[in-house]
Amino acid sequence: MNPPISQSLSAQIEELRRRIAHAERWAVLSGAGMSAESGIPTFRDAQTGFWAKFDPMQLASEEGFRADPAGVWNWYAQRREGVRRAQPNAGHVALANYAHRWPDRLSIITQNVDDLHQRVGSEGVISLHGDILQDRWLNPCPQPGEEGRPCQVAHAQAQPGEPPRCARCGNWVRPGVVWFGENLPQEAWRAAEDAVAQADVLLVVGTSGAVWPAAGLAEQARQQGAFVAVLNPQNSELDEVAHLRLLGTAAQVLPALLAPLL
Ligand code: OAD
Repeated sequence: MNPPISQSLSAQIEELRRRIAHAERWAVLSGAGMSAESGIPTFRDAQTGFWAKFDPMQLASEEGFRADPAGVWNWYAQRREGVRRAQPNAGHVALANYAHRWPDRLSIITQNVDDLHQRVGSEGVISLHGDILQDRWLNPCPQPGEEGRPCQVAHAQAQPGEPPRCARCGNWVRPGVVWFGENLPQEAWRAAEDAVAQADVLLVVGTSGAVWPAAGLAEQARQQGAFVAVLNPQNSELDEVAHLRLLGTAAQVLPALLAPLL
């Protein structure tokens, strides 16, 4: 059960709703907090966060993978299991219902590598940090086959206690996420910048705002004249960029915010 919404939060929700109702287009930038109430731990929570227990450079970098492919692969296998078991929460559902009612008005940009926005039917989700359920090759295919086509990652062969490898060239399979030190997928980044450029309102949900360039989208929105709101039960590094802060959770506030607009 979600905690009741206080009077002050309720007034903030109303103000944001008014802004959204008058916006031609608006965007959501979601982070790990969006999926926290689905049971997927965030990264930087002091008690339960992934990075409290694990060293990100060891587990979420190419260097870390090369140093310990089996260890990193197993860590991702556990996280994949967690994502598969997780269910979208009322926040994911509220955004999808809104977009269904008002097509082409809302863009969802996410830093999350889970598929919970997509599972409730949100379309065109812009995934900045990849997809944890996808596999890809660690290196560019060194022995492209017929007509220069690369080997197919689906044909990689599972090895006990190791990531799968290509039977032809031994290339490792790695998870399809963006690791520390890697660039964001260009197409997704461009789409995110475009969505923010067109937005009259940007709602930032459940992110610490500590990872760039994603965090820079809030500043971009503000500079381009959009109204910026931050929804987070805690302080975040984007608070100073926000015109409005809503101290609440995704599953609590998003349904209350959007249901009256349906
Ligand atoms: P963080 O773990 O850094 O931050 C999660 C944020 O969610 C915190 O500010 C929490 O206060 C907030 N939060 C927790 N529960 C919430 C709830 N129920 N509703 C709303 N907010 C809640 O996660 P991100 O900011 O998403 O990158 O991290 C950004 C990137 O850092 C991730 O995409 C990942 C990580 O390294 C890559 O994997 C490349």
